[in-house]
Amino acid sequence: EEFGDLVAALPRRQQSILELRLYQGFWLPEHWVPGTVVFQRRFAPRPDDVVLASYPKCGTTWLKALAFAAAARAAHPPAAPGHPLRRLNPHDCVPFIDEIFAAGEEAKLDALPSPRLMNTHLPCTLLPTPVTAGGCRVVYVCRDPKDMVVSLWHFLRRTKPDLSFDETFESVCDGTVAAGPVWDHVLSYWRASVARPDRVLFLKYEDLLRDTGANVRRLAEFMGRPFTAAEEAAGDVAAVVELCSFDEMKGLEVNKAGSGTAGRYRAMPRDAFFRKGVAGDWANHMTPEMAARLDRIVREKLQGTGLAFA
Ligand code: A3P
Repeated sequence: EEFGDLVAALPRRQQSILELRLYQGFWLPEHWVPGTVVFQRRFAPRPDDVVLASYPKCGTTWLKALAFAAAARAAHPPAAPGHPLRRLNPHDCVPFIDEIFAAGEEAKLDALPSPRLMNTHLPCTLLPTPVTAGGCRVVYVCRDPKDMVVSLWHFLRRTKPDLSFDETFESVCDGTVAAGPVWDHVLSYWRASVARPDRVLFLKYEDLLRDTGANVRRLAEFMGRPFTAAEEAAGDVAAVVELCSFDEMKGLEVNKAGSGTAGRYRAMPRDAFFRKGVAGDWANHMTPEMAARLDRIVREKLQGTGLAFA
């Protein structure tokens, strides 16, 4: 209620699946706005907090699993049969932070083991000032926007089967999509990582696929918990990679059956987060003209920034 006037004053775009509001330069689903505002006002980061950030469908679930497995490995050895990631969907291991604030459940944050891992789909410029000022660590994962569109379409179709690929594609090109425009989202974190590489780690889904182990090491080191020589010798990096691999996660009963991860995606079947897990699936969905168009838009937006999608 407190946010009714604030939300009503924001520019609005109604789509077939979502009602979007333009908030501080980004199109947010209307129901994200109150949690975002409270998060911005109230979040007090701890120096060892790790905020996992992503644009939707760019590897959030995988990043959550990898970061959780790496950060919690002392308490939960990655090869242990009873590892939490074998019983819980990664979204139940790492909460959506703005949603915690939306629900007034800040006490849940205090209960998280250190280092606290939480995630957000908000762009960097919308994060609370103490975070952007370097008050905690941020890990961002991005992905070729063409594959993101394909993944997004398949995901949204789980609740709206008649959604056309063209509509999803057009809204991405137009920027009017949840947390869009996607290029501004990516750039917000890219710039932050260039300015503060010690505080913002910028990852690409395609790099994670190419060499997961190297990125797990980077992630662990960035979080202040580098793998020791003994852990390396014991094969712990490989165990994290294996635990979080697409086939392993997709095959788990908890990720196959039922719906209802914690929070934002409670209506989604849990298997909706594990579809194909590859790079380049866009070629099976887009005409060469569509691909060239999206590539051109993204190239123009990223020009001169030092960032590119191959
Ligand atoms: P596809 O739809 O292309 O298969 P998010 O987690 O941000 O919602 O992104 C979902 C995408 O990540 C989906 O892509 C999904 O299959 C892929 N994914 C999920 N878990 C993965 C894993 N362990 N390894 C690789 N890709 C994974």
